[in-house]
Amino acid sequence: MRVLGIESSCDETAVACVDDGGVRSNLISSQVDLHRHFGGVVPELASRAHLSNILPVLSAALEEAGWTLDEVEAVAATAGPGLIGAVLMGLSCAKSVAWARRLPFVGVHHIEGHILANDIERPMTLPALVLVVSGGHTQTVWMEAPGRYRVLGKTRDDAAGETLDKAAKLMGLGYPGGPLIEKLAAGGRAGAISLPVGLRRRGELDFSFSGLKTAVRLRLEAMGDEVSEADRADLARALQDAVIESLVLKTAAALDALGAGRVRGLYLAGGVARNAALRDAFESLAAARRLVFTPPPPAYCTDNAAMIAWAGRHRLLAGQRDSLQLGAFARRPLSSWS
Ligand code: KG4
Ligand code: ZN
Repeated sequence: MRVLGIESSCDETAVACVDDGGVRSNLISSQVDLHRHFGGVVPELASRAHLSNILPVLSAALEEAGWTLDEVEAVAATAGPGLIGAVLMGLSCAKSVAWARRLPFVGVHHIEGHILANDIERPMTLPALVLVVSGGHTQTVWMEAPGRYRVLGKTRDDAAGETLDKAAKLMGLGYPGGPLIEKLAAGGRAGAISLPVGLRRRGELDFSFSGLKTAVRLRLEAMGDEVSEADRADLARALQDAVIESLVLKTAAALDALGAGRVRGLYLAGGVARNAALRDAFESLAAARRLVFTPPPPAYCTDNAAMIAWAGRHRLLAGQRDSLQLGAFARRPLSSWS
């Protein structure tokens, strides 16, 4: 089935073409340069940029796939969660195409897209535990099959990516912070600075990162105006290590809560899953628990439309269709989405 997918939940205008053989095109018009100046995404600017970019990106994605609009067999788009004005742009564009061409249409939960990014190049080993770590979300999800999810633990405050982004801003590094922290941390010493891991108590499945962000701010204040490059590298290393320690701790707690035999695969999803140290830590966790772990392809970790088209394709092949009256949502738990 040839599916056109559209993603516009945050600051990437993305369109992809997928079929039974995989991804035929996966284009992204990034707004990073537009938002960098503000140190984060400005919702109204994001919506305006989606409006300007979406049709050129759509045309280019079709061209790269070698498809005409007549050859598209179904349309999928992110219906949420995300910045609502941004979601509306991609969703209404997708619905217009579906309406004009009389095509089947499905709305996709953005988090389901991130999870199914792991399924694009090879089928996932199920049941699985998936750690979703992005700029907007941090949660452990038990996945029995595509479309069947149970959220086990989630962050009570900031998401992991948001913590890295906010800390990077405090450190004057720029935006988005995750990759900049990773680069700086590579030159830092392990254990030179110690930062707190939130909700550390045994058996606690939820995450908390707000204390970590505050600790970084206090450290920076204590360092004063003349912070050396070496100190900044040590701080970045401590921050990255604390985030990863928390992610591994809570993933292990979720595995314990599920009990033996209920998980075969372990997966990472979302933008922070690009982080090499996190991937290494998951490799070790999977080996210790005798689980199958395959890191997601980096191009499908950060926001993209291939993952949305792929998740939509799963739903379409299962016979699901959404009405063209489907609404957009800013928040909605993954477990309630069907
Ligand atoms: O999945 P994503 O593109 O957008 C959301 O749905 O939120 O994730 C973006 C997040 C940002 O917080 C960014 O800093 C983080 O992913 N990120 C990384 C890396 N690359 C992107 N964090 C750590 N290490 C990286 N290499
Ligand atoms: Zn995302």
